[in-house]
Parts: sequence; C-alpha cells; structure tokens
Amino acid sequence: MHSHLDAILFHETTILSRLDELGRQLTVDYAGRDLTVLLVLHGSLFFAADLLRRINLPLQLTSLSVSSYHGGTESAGTVTFHQPALPDLRGRHVLIVDDILDTGLTLDSIRRRLEEECQPASTRLCVLLEKRRPRPVEVRPDYVGFRIEDAFVVGYGLDYQGHYRNLPLIGTLRKEFIVAG
Ligand code: IMP
Repeated sequence: MHSHLDAILFHETTILSRLDELGRQLTVDYAGRDLTVLLVLHGSLFFAADLLRRINLPLQLTSLSVSSYHGGTESAGTVTFHQPALPDLRGRHVLIVDDILDTGLTLDSIRRRLEEECQPASTRLCVLLEKRRPRPVEVRPDYVGFRIEDAFVVGYGLDYQGHYRNLPLIGTLRKEFIVAG
C-alpha cells in the first residue's frame, strides 16, 4: 500500500507522540467531569483507539455513523446520518472525535443536532487533522492533532473509496490511484 503514496505527511511515531500531548491535555481539561466521547465513524476509529488510551479518566464511549463523501475526493456537501436515533447524552460533557475537518459541514451538522436534540452539558470538537482552507460554515475545533494544506489524504483511519484506512501513517495518494470524476 505504501507504494500507492505520493508523499508521507506523518509517520506513526509522529502521530503517537502528538497523541501523547493531546491525551495529557484532555486528561487535565476533563478532570472531574462526566465525559462521553462520541466517535464519528469510521474515519475516527484508529485515532480514537490510540487517543482514548492516553486519557487517564473514566469516560463513556458512543458513536455516530455519518457520511458526506460518497466515494470521491470532494465533499458531497450533504451529511447523511445512518442511524435513526441519537445516543443519550443528556447532561454529559461530550467530546466529538473525528478524523479530519475539511468543509466543516459534518461536524457543524453533528454538533447542531446534538445540541438541539440531546441536551448535553457541553460539546467540544477534537480532530486529528484540520485542513487550511476556507469553509462554508464556521467551525472551530477545540483540539487539533495537526494542521495540513488542502490536499486529499489517506491512512490512519482516512480512506479513499473504502481503502487505506489501515495504513499506519498519513499521506497523499499518487494520481494514478485516484479514479477520475
Ligand atoms: P467535512 O468536509 O469537514 O464535512 O469532512 C467530512 C468527512 O470527509 C471527514 O470526516 C472525512 O471522513 C472525509 N474527508 C475529508 N477530507 C478527507 C481527506 O482528505 N481524506 C479522506 N477523507 C476525507
């Protein structure tokens, strides 16, 4: 799979040492609060598995399945929720964990729905990657692993048409592996 990559942005050791820092910060910030971590599936799986083991607090875990890419390298602009009911988050301090902030439409729409329908005590956003680009909605993540240029990346949970999630690093795909259209 590595041979499909054009460039490597972050090796596993770099990712994990950044997660050490984020885990320490989250441990301090959420001390004494009822923390629920909400994973945005499937992209956040690898990030969350490594990050949550670095948070030294009792916490609860729940997830939401949504999609906005529908297979390409550009956001479709609409967010589809794949489950009829939202988790019970009343009174909980909710940390929403996602792989990447691109247009911001996914996290904006998840946060709005949770705040309107679930009455959490608080919501914060935690992303592994934030793309430097203008966004159609204003979304400010509270915790960011790394800021990157506006490029399509794969690995460490991020996919292209369902592939590459299990790459242990983050990189850009060579053009010949991206299907035109
Ligand atoms: P949004 O445009 O911020 O709503 O991004 C929503 C989702 O699109 C993210 O959670 C990712 O699953 C996916 N996505 C955005 N940028 C990339 C990328 O560069 N590679 C792989 N998936 C991406």
